[in-house]
Amino acid sequence: MFRTRKIAEVFSPSEDIVLYPGDCLKLLAAIPDESLSLVITSPPYNIGKEYEKKLKLETYIEQQAAVIRECVRCLSPQGSICWQVGNYVDGGGHHTPRYCAVPYLY
Ligand SMILES: C[S@@+](CC[C@H](N)C(=O)[O-])C[C@H]1O[C@@H](n2cnc3c(N)ncnc32)[C@H](O)[C@@H]1O
Repeated sequence: MFRTRKIAEVFSPSEDIVLYPGDCLKLLAAIPDESLSLVITSPPYNIGKEYEKKLKLETYIEQQAAVIRECVRCLSPQGSICWQVGNYVDGGGHHTPRYCAVPYLY
């Protein structure tokens, strides 16, 4: 009833599933232009979660902009990005992450 599928660790257009255990920028670099229909990602929020090192806001935005640029390059013109971010208020607290689009970063 269920078909067994191989899970690859290196991107190739012929693979059904790729689970890349490394830096997303290296994975994205291997993906051809305009070849993806959908990107769904939950990048670091930079709000001091236990699993992340909080960066200066400018550094964080530069890092995320580099990833978004690569995602946009890989996306088909009809494609979509779901980008989950933390909600940061300068001098204030932070909130649980919300979904939003950040087209102004690229
Ligand atoms: C906000 S967390 C994701 C939380 C996850 N969505 C969940 O629900 O548990 C961000 C994750 O991105 C990983 N990460 C940070 N920089 C990365 C990069 N350059 N490439 C791939 N993963 C990265 C972090 O190790 C962390 O696990």
